[in-house]
Amino acid sequence: MNFLSTVFFGVQREGFLKGLQGALDHIGTKDGIYTGDNLVTWGRNLGFFENEKFMQAWRTHGTTSVEEAIVWRIYVVNWAVQSVLARNIPGDLVECACYKGTTARIVCDYVDWAQRPDRHYYLYDLFDHDPSMPHHRMTEHSAQLYSQVKARFAEFGNVTVTQGKVPDVLHEVGPKEKIAFMHIDLNNVQAEIGALEVLFDKLQPGGIMILDDYGWLAYRPQKLAEDPWLAKRGYHVLEMPTGQGLVFK
Ligand SMILES: C[S@@+](CC[C@H](N)C(=O)[O-])C[C@H]1O[C@@H](n2cnc3c(N)ncnc32)[C@H](O)[C@@H]1O
Repeated sequence: MNFLSTVFFGVQREGFLKGLQGALDHIGTKDGIYTGDNLVTWGRNLGFFENEKFMQAWRTHGTTSVEEAIVWRIYVVNWAVQSVLARNIPGDLVECACYKGTTARIVCDYVDWAQRPDRHYYLYDLFDHDPSMPHHRMTEHSAQLYSQVKARFAEFGNVTVTQGKVPDVLHEVGPKEKIAFMHIDLNNVQAEIGALEVLFDKLQPGGIMILDDYGWLAYRPQKLAEDPWLAKRGYHVLEMPTGQGLVFK
């Protein structure tokens, strides 16, 4: 199995891709290659590509070149949700923030979320952008994005999509008691620490938190604030090759 995406961040595209092809021409095992999302591997199992249910969900809902390139990251989130559900960790799922809802929509298919009315999935985002905001604009931000994302989850009675600023909005709508899994992906340090302040105590023993931006140098202020915040409470983040950070409660 090989996966060859040409989506890389922070590169001079033409020269980089030429150099990458040159490097790949010189590897011994022409298998287990993954390129994209600032990852290059060879000789790896890449087992998630053999996971048919995940593949079907990802192919159905991950339609842009970036959503394809970040498949390994998306799988990490799906694995985490699958794991907490399989182990009956009590509580809801939370994503701050969901943007277009792509990752959460893939999760819903992968774990048959419609069949779990006892649990709730809370999704938050601002959905639109103005230059005063501390994080960068994303291509699909717009006045319509909130209603588009709501429509994307309309078939699920146990998903709530909320427009608002994290952490403030978390006091208005959200899991009252227990969280089994949380995905924090806010691209700015104030909001991420604010989310931890409100949500982390609710994450149950055995629960999992994924910090999407944790390993990326562009978001280093988040790591620098999160490491001491979590260490004070006895937790340490595993920086993963995908750029995500993983915390077990
Ligand atoms: C990288 S995107 C999230 C992608 C999404 N997690 C996924 O996997 O598809 C980051 C999002 O954070 C949102 N955001 C940043 N600061 C926020 C805040 N304080 N409250 C709510 N959303 C925020 C932005 O609007 C943006 O859509």
